[in-house]
Amino acid sequence: MAPGPADGAAPRDVEVAKTLTEAPIARIAEVAYGSNGVFLIELDAPDPAVPTEPLRAVYKPVRGERPLWDFPRRTLYLREVAAYVVDSALGLHRVPVTVLRDGPLGPGSVQRFVHVLEEPLTAERAEKLETQLRAVALLDVLINNADRKRTHLLVIDGPSVKAIDNALSFLPYPRQRTALIALGGSQLPAKLARRVQDLAGDATRMTALQTRLRRLLNESEVEAFGHRVTELAGDPTFPVLDAWDGRPFEWW
Ligand SMILES: Nc1ncnc2c1ncn2[C@@H]1O[C@H](COP(=O)(O)OP(=O)(O)OP(=O)(O)O)[C@@H](O)[C@H]1O
Ligand SMILES: [Mg+2]
Repeated sequence: MAPGPADGAAPRDVEVAKTLTEAPIARIAEVAYGSNGVFLIELDAPDPAVPTEPLRAVYKPVRGERPLWDFPRRTLYLREVAAYVVDSALGLHRVPVTVLRDGPLGPGSVQRFVHVLEEPLTAERAEKLETQLRAVALLDVLINNADRKRTHLLVIDGPSVKAIDNALSFLPYPRQRTALIALGGSQLPAKLARRVQDLAGDATRMTALQTRLRRLLNESEVEAFGHRVTELAGDPTFPVLDAWDGRPFEWW
């Protein structure tokens, strides 16, 4: 069964998650740029942020997943949702709301579409993004993201950073690759470290999160996630990755 809105999600996100899961899909169009089948959909419901517009989302059906040698087949859509579940549980709000649902091409992930900022960033506004990029980097350590490309860190109005394309995550062995590799060896900002430590120190929250993840990932992956939380809570430092293996494959 699909997990409900993730624990820790803001109330407006809970509403968006419900709409993404339940509202009829009014329109669908294929997104040309993607290694897998990726579709833009419009739901038959208003966008709560802009009520004159329909809510838009990106639908990635499991049927459109291109097989990879290192990830179990037909699991990428589940990993997209699992990344959102972890982001919400930590209250990071960097991943757009992502749910599981059935669509015209079968089951898949559905993620709220985010509009990229069109005006240039001022230095002052860009400064705010530094902490948010560290929050993404923290998420990536915990989910063991093997594919954090620069092009998938979107700056939206706020300004605010949103991290999309989170599917290549949660392998049970070290596999991180990230455009944020330069953070390796630096300390997590104190507030972010506290978030991880609070989660690690709260057995009830941790159990609830792992129960949720068990619906999306296999047991060894859920266990490995738990170990990464404990490890990062004990030593809140971004890991130093190998300069070659730790870099993402950037296609453009
Ligand atoms: N939530 C979103 N909001 C806005 N645009 C999105 C969102 N999700 C995906 N996109 C757009 O769709 C494109 C393809 O999606 P995504 O990168 O997740 O698929 P992919 O098959 O893994 O592709 P890639 O080969 O780029 O890794 C993205 O590069 C981006 O332009
Ligand atoms: Mg991708």
